[in-house]
Amino acid sequence: MSGPVTYERKENIGVITVNNPPVNALSQAVRSGLSDCLKEGINDPAAEAIIVTGGGRTFMAGADISEFGKPTMSPDLNSVIFEYEDSSKPTIAALHGTPLGGGLEVSMGCHYRVANSKTLLGLPEVKLGILPGAGGTQRLPRLVGPELALDMITSGNPIPASKALKEGLVEEIYENTTHEELIDNAIVFAKNILVNNEHPKSRERSEKISNVSPSLFDNVIKKITPRLRGRKGPLRCIEAVRGAVDLSFEEGIKNERDLFKICHDSEESEALIHSFFSERMANKIPGMDKNTPLRPINKAVVIGCGTMGGGIAMSFVNAGIPVNIIETTNEFLEKGMNIIKNNYSATVSKGRLSQENMDKRMNLLTPTLDWDAIKDADIIIEAVFEEMNIKKEIFTKIDGLAKEGAILASNTSTLDIDEIADATNRPEEVVGTHFFSPANVMRLLEIVRGSRTKVDILATLMALAKKIKKVGIIAGNCDGFVGNRMFHQYIQQAHLLVQEGATPEQVDSVAESWGWAMGPFAVNDLAGNDVGWLIRKRHKAENYYEGKIYASDVADRLCELGRFGQKVGKGFYKYDPKTRKRESDPEVHKIIEDVRREKGVNTREISDDEILSRLHGALINEGTRILEEGHAFRASDIDVCYINGYGFAAHRGGPMWQADKIGVNKVAKEINNHRNADNLSWPESDLMNTLEESNGKLSDFVPDTSNPSKRS
Ligand code: 3HC
Repeated sequence: MSGPVTYERKENIGVITVNNPPVNALSQAVRSGLSDCLKEGINDPAAEAIIVTGGGRTFMAGADISEFGKPTMSPDLNSVIFEYEDSSKPTIAALHGTPLGGGLEVSMGCHYRVANSKTLLGLPEVKLGILPGAGGTQRLPRLVGPELALDMITSGNPIPASKALKEGLVEEIYENTTHEELIDNAIVFAKNILVNNEHPKSRERSEKISNVSPSLFDNVIKKITPRLRGRKGPLRCIEAVRGAVDLSFEEGIKNERDLFKICHDSEESEALIHSFFSERMANKIPGMDKNTPLRPINKAVVIGCGTMGGGIAMSFVNAGIPVNIIETTNEFLEKGMNIIKNNYSATVSKGRLSQENMDKRMNLLTPTLDWDAIKDADIIIEAVFEEMNIKKEIFTKIDGLAKEGAILASNTSTLDIDEIADATNRPEEVVGTHFFSPANVMRLLEIVRGSRTKVDILATLMALAKKIKKVGIIAGNCDGFVGNRMFHQYIQQAHLLVQEGATPEQVDSVAESWGWAMGPFAVNDLAGNDVGWLIRKRHKAENYYEGKIYASDVADRLCELGRFGQKVGKGFYKYDPKTRKRESDPEVHKIIEDVRREKGVNTREISDDEILSRLHGALINEGTRILEEGHAFRASDIDVCYINGYGFAAHRGGPMWQADKIGVNKVAKEINNHRNADNLSWPESDLMNTLEESNGKLSDFVPDTSNPSKRS
């Protein structure tokens, strides 16, 4: 049989293999092939049992997400799974890679499951705003009990094969087998079960769903609610699993279908699916040959062992890449290494890292004062003070020591990569790697291309980002790159809103209720108000504000008083030293009053709607300007940046996605109104005007990215 699913017989066992690279997604052709091949196996008189497996790197990793939103094409996944469960010959799923979502659901329809020991099994649908819709919410609780099922389905996180074996999700696991060995083992397993002539159906199991405490579901709701930020999907997952306990299997399946449809049709799901594909799209560099060879990264050097340098070094060693950290004095080195050690120890004490793994990671870190460590490094990342002259000095020194082919990277968050590159004799090897604080935790990595940066460096860094568990986007070399350039406009509106009559508490609460992880003032306090202060001082020195609004008087005054934020216990708020809980501070309100009085502002009541419109309008306006200048490859890269680096809710899709969803013409009108009220803080965008007229979408705009270094 041709197509993505094939049937063959090995001795007396039929083997069905799905080959739909890269992840064997359950497209219509795969569903249809699974159904046809099962019939072939059942009709094959020499086959006594049937194994189903995935070719290539994984068992089926789920439904084909690109089919979502399109009319359902027969056969639907549920029917195929029932065919495997009702098969007259025993069906066995042989698992490897990542059997996820619909893939795991297929396996749960089979009578038995066996797996390679490295397999990760999960139902990640919630991450796409949906729930397992092919019986997963009904069969998983029957196999592993509702508690673990709830945990897996509401978090979307997979479990390792060893846990699946312990909990009854798989019958046998095989240590580190090749795919061929997995099939050989599955054949032996199949022959053994033939002796019993049993066809155990997950849907008929009831022992694990009897006598479930009624409080279980309420407790899970209570536990996850504070993290939902307005999302509904996880609550619907819980409702579906509750059906497995409270209803018959048939009613539970119907309930699951109804809830699936609600989730599938929701904006939450549309936004999360956009986020999923945007993250993957960000990897694609326009015009780059897919086969461009990547540079090996087997050793890194990080210069500077402060907060950023330490976090960057941790990201590398977490991925098994050895790092030398260079500092100027033993005292700095010791201080930085202690912070890293304490960070890891805290993770160990929370049970999220074993002592053995912590030791392995610490062993990969070599603190040193000797710059010769650079000589055999594949990448050198400078993470020192944000000061151009210091950076230039360091890059000249790196240039004198680094081997040919080494990547010379700066962690600058705003400075001109081309100017830094000019301090070397190999400007084409220089690039920005802008990590976000805390760098060992935050997922975003802005890869900043200078005007001469070689394209294979960009590709290598995108691959490296994935390896060190970051999400990379490529940004042009403008002031603040993508993220901070937009954030500057956003924070400026936040400051203006407070100057005009809002409070930091109101602004933060409106943003957080909408879905932001933290409001703008809370973010400033977390990141350190001194960071923005330093940039404002540089901007002032560079005459950046000429003709532009300056809205940060309150922030400046807080910094003059040393109110740098959480790290010193006070900033826009004061913080409980033990719990870090934020509280309003009358001293800050007095400063706000003083600034308003000195500036002669007639304060007014500001509505929550105006706050959202101005915060988001500022982001969208600047994002549009970045796009039209070619500093981002596509609008969705900007969404990836904001979701992974700035706490924009993934289930809101990102600022550019929001603009398209609301309608750019409508957003443009609101921005024009804000500009009419204050013509200094809303720079014009030709692209916005064009899209307003044509009723176009930002996602359809293809920028000219040939000149990545127009500084603006
Ligand atoms: N459908 C369509 N395409 C998919 C896909 C899916 N389920 N999963 C991955 N892809 C595509 C990606 O878009 C990417 O395409 P590209 O090469 O054009 O960029 C390619 O496969 C490779 O993906 P990754 O770069 O993510 O590869 P990794 O090796 O890093 O990760 C993975 C593999 C862990 C399988 C990861 O892709 C993943 O998590 N996929 C999503 C899994 C998922 O959510 N499954 C549930 C789907 S919903 C469902 O099953 C509903 C059911 O209950 C009815």
